[in-house]
Amino acid sequence: MILTETAHAKINLYLHVTGRRDDGYHLLDSLAVFAGAADTLFFSSDAAALSLSVEGPFGAELSTDATDDNLVMRAARLLAAEAGHTPTGSLTLEKTLPVASGIGGGSADAAAALRLLQQAWDVAVSEERLFELAEKLGADVPVCLAQRSARMGGVGERLDPAPALPDCGMILVNCGLGVSTPAVFRARDGGFSEAPALPAAWASAAEMATDLARLHNDLEAAACALCPTIRDVLSAINALPGCLLSRMSGSGATCFGIFDTPEAARRAAAQLSALTQARSWWVWAGGLAGRPKTSESRPA
Ligand code: C5P
Repeated sequence: MILTETAHAKINLYLHVTGRRDDGYHLLDSLAVFAGAADTLFFSSDAAALSLSVEGPFGAELSTDATDDNLVMRAARLLAAEAGHTPTGSLTLEKTLPVASGIGGGSADAAAALRLLQQAWDVAVSEERLFELAEKLGADVPVCLAQRSARMGGVGERLDPAPALPDCGMILVNCGLGVSTPAVFRARDGGFSEAPALPAAWASAAEMATDLARLHNDLEAAACALCPTIRDVLSAINALPGCLLSRMSGSGATCFGIFDTPEAARRAAAQLSALTQARSWWVWAGGLAGRPKTSESRPA
């Protein structure tokens, strides 16, 4: 038996830091959406003891020595312990998303492991409990478990309904330099900012971009200070014809551009290819994934 699960890239369309907890974690207000770009996790029931192998263009960046410590393995062990199940089978992670790049790759992989192994092992863990396990694995794992657009609150674990999203295109560009999330949070200066109320729906990409332009990513300046190439990436995206908005996602370094349609985003990516090949930047273009027509929130 082979089962497959996709782990889509999580993009923060805006990210406001609204406060700081005593334990140092930051309180956020962020609109997370999912792009078509994804890692893929495969499960095969052929092995008696659980193992993980990592393949794909970014597989080498996840040391195989450390696979035991990989978020996917931690998710697997957590689920097995919760369900009183012996962890079996072999997992293969096809890593096509850049590592440590602000698009939730590791979190999405861990969330995919929870979804996949719950099914593969046929263990009964309630949806509410699965979200609690996700939260233990990292602040971004709950939204990746839901894998649908949501307004994130708390340190990321509180998921509220997102505006219904329009058809739109997205380009993602990563300059290949990893930035450390804790370092970016530490380097951030500036106060706290609340985001305003959002509409129930955006009718068009242009309308969404206009509203988003009034918001920002509070981590962008700090990430650019640590990794100035991010500014080059933002300028390159911003200069593309049809680009409605450019911004950094999460704690960086991946930046995104919003376009009217997936085709417009792909045409723009083609225009960028000489530059991105010369600088070995990773580029993806397409549409959003798991875009809800009507928003839902996670179970209370
Ligand atoms: O939860 P996760 O492991 O993804 O977070 C990595 C680091 O990012 C944390 O150790 C913390 O330094 C920082 N962080 C934060 N506030 C958040 C999320 C992450 O300060 N809401």
